[in-house]
Amino acid sequence: MKPAILVTRAIFPEVLTKLEQYFDVESNQDDIIFSPTELAGRLKGKVGTLATASAKINTELLQQLPDLKVVASMAVGYDNIDLAACTAHGVMASNTPEVLNETTADFGWALLMATARRVTESEHWLRAGHWTKWRFDSFLGADIHGATLGIIGMGRIGQAIARRSTGFDMKVMYHNRSRLSTEQEAYANNAQYVSKEELLQQADHVVLVLPYSAASHHTIAAAELAMMKPGATLVNLARGGIVDDQALIAALREKRIAAAGLDVFENEPKFHPDFLTLSNVVLTPHIASASETTRRAMANRAADNLIAGLTEGRPRDWLNP
Ligand code: DGY
Repeated sequence: MKPAILVTRAIFPEVLTKLEQYFDVESNQDDIIFSPTELAGRLKGKVGTLATASAKINTELLQQLPDLKVVASMAVGYDNIDLAACTAHGVMASNTPEVLNETTADFGWALLMATARRVTESEHWLRAGHWTKWRFDSFLGADIHGATLGIIGMGRIGQAIARRSTGFDMKVMYHNRSRLSTEQEAYANNAQYVSKEELLQQADHVVLVLPYSAASHHTIAAAELAMMKPGATLVNLARGGIVDDQALIAALREKRIAAAGLDVFENEPKFHPDFLTLSNVVLTPHIASASETTRRAMANRAADNLIAGLTEGRPRDWLNP
């Protein structure tokens, strides 16, 4: 008999086929969102699971699952997984790093440019039939070229975003837990390491790509927004909890910063309804890594981690060895 696993959400069919060579797979191609109780019920007797960032893997769940050995998450961010609890319960956890860096950086630029140059706002206006004449002052936005880009969280995705800025003749500043090597800074368009305060005061465009944790909760709140330039743009590609929504809504409403682009929200798929009342915010449904190639690569990498974890006792992207 093959060992039993659960794939918690809908996935590419070829990835299920691959997993079926090794395991007795319970899948969820109808993409039902399981409550924590349903998830625990489905995971009973399973030795592994391929999950997504929406599954909360914590003590409460793990203590009900003595057979579980591997949680392979299809995401680079793993704030949904309590690694200490996994270790305490003998569960190997893995994520999908590297494969999504470039695609996420591409999208960071798409969101930054759409936000700074008011692309979606002007399109909605056009579609609503308001365009009757050209005007010199219609939808004036902020320049990207020649501006100062501030990146908070200078991991691989942050560095990939910085590298792309060379074509726009931008100055790059970054803030990170630790400073990059001189070579890495040079490769990241000569990025300059600064304090968070200095970055917020000087950047024209601020991009958030840091991991979410208790320490990074509300990295951007009222005090930080108050430090930003009045014409600045804020883009969040990381996790919703990094920004204090109430403070951001107030800053956008009072035009204390020009605009924000948000791909992530604290209680996805829910988001603060006041965002819908603001024209200076671009909202996207957590799609930064969503290219055809990259999502397939993420799914395959998660499947390979699950297979390696259960057959060799060693997932490639093991988070809690
Ligand atoms: C990630 O990989 O962390 C993306 O945000 C998708 O969840």
